[in-house]
Amino acid sequence: MNIHTYEKVWLIGSMVLIVGFIVTVTYGAVGLGIAMVDDSEETIEPTELDEDERFAEPRVEQVGEDEYEAYVVAQTFMFSPDPIEIPAGSEVTFHATSRDVIHSFSVAGTNINTMVIPGEVATMTAEFDEPGEYGVVCNEYCGSGHHNMEGELHVVP
Ligand code: CUA
Repeated sequence: MNIHTYEKVWLIGSMVLIVGFIVTVTYGAVGLGIAMVDDSEETIEPTELDEDERFAEPRVEQVGEDEYEAYVVAQTFMFSPDPIEIPAGSEVTFHATSRDVIHSFSVAGTNINTMVIPGEVATMTAEFDEPGEYGVVCNEYCGSGHHNMEGELHVVP
């Protein structure tokens, strides 16, 4: 009789523990999920750019009448897309990230100049009024091909 009661206590006790674990794991997973959603706004896994809807296809995308979003990937030793083509009279928000090491995304003759760090997305907006051609260069030493890491930005009529 006494043994039976002890067994019941143990059984209930272990049930409580199991439910406790499940609750902890569930809430832990939910918490992690929310954190990951938050993180994706500013950080990015460099090895997963090909699965990222922004950077799988580096491109310039029209989002408004004269508004564009440009998704730029820097890697040793090139920029994508290249050339970057932008219509004159537009406002462009650039989102740039790196596939490997630290580069910069610098458009010669403009104030577009940002470090491009693997794991982070650099964002900046610029207006392009007149047609023209600009050189895109890397200002951060990134390896043997650093001095040849160049691209072009065309502002087309
Ligand atoms: Cu890329 Cu220097």
